[in-house]
Amino acid sequence: MERLQKKIASLGYCSRRKAEELIANGLVEVNGEVVTKLGTTVKPGDVISVEGNILDNSKSYEYYLLNKPKGIVTTTNDEKGRKTVIDLIETKARIYPVGRLDYDTSGALILTNDGELANLLMSPKYEIDKTYIAKVEGIVTIPDIQSLRRGVIIGGIKTKKARVKLKSIDKKKETSIVEITIHEGKNHQVKKMFDTLGYKVIKLRREKYANLTLKGLMPGEYRKLTIKEVKILYSLCKTTNSN
Ligand code: URA
Repeated sequence: MERLQKKIASLGYCSRRKAEELIANGLVEVNGEVVTKLGTTVKPGDVISVEGNILDNSKSYEYYLLNKPKGIVTTTNDEKGRKTVIDLIETKARIYPVGRLDYDTSGALILTNDGELANLLMSPKYEIDKTYIAKVEGIVTIPDIQSLRRGVIIGGIKTKKARVKLKSIDKKKETSIVEITIHEGKNHQVKKMFDTLGYKVIKLRREKYANLTLKGLMPGEYRKLTIKEVKILYSLCKTTNSN
């Protein structure tokens, strides 16, 4: 049994708040009856219609953590016919990636068909931490590490505070390894942050997404999330998930 507004949101129709509004306005029917009470619960098989659209209430949710290898696109369908992250996961469910990693970036990527969780995690409001290991050309200086921490300007906007550690430098090869944790998700953000300071990222791996690490997963491998892990992800997006 699940609350109606949560069910509508998790089926990807709209946000939970919007679903509450639609229910209150008499635009939601369960098994042919208009429901205006917010606490109403529904079960699998109940026919839910919203603004005249019948939702597919038969699907169950699947959540995966993939260690995305380099050379794979993070889309559900690539117009150039390249292999996508979806091709790596054996399921009949219509899952999609939560956010994106560049073609040449590897690491932690969540895939799910739970539209509500995907939207919450991608919302900048909840500041979900993402930790990357970047190998960059050049020896990164301490003042530059401090600039990355404070925020740098990308497209006229300052990036939010980040946690940044210089892990190692290779003086011979003139490269540095930097760990950087950000909670924003601008396109190519890590590469662009280094670029503003004149460094080229030559390798990028996402080590951690929220509470999830790559432990036990080789590139290309994936596993299902546990119920506990899914609950933790929801709890990180607290404000709309108090009921
Ligand atoms: N930042 C990037 O530059 N690339 C990614 O794939 C992820 C974060």
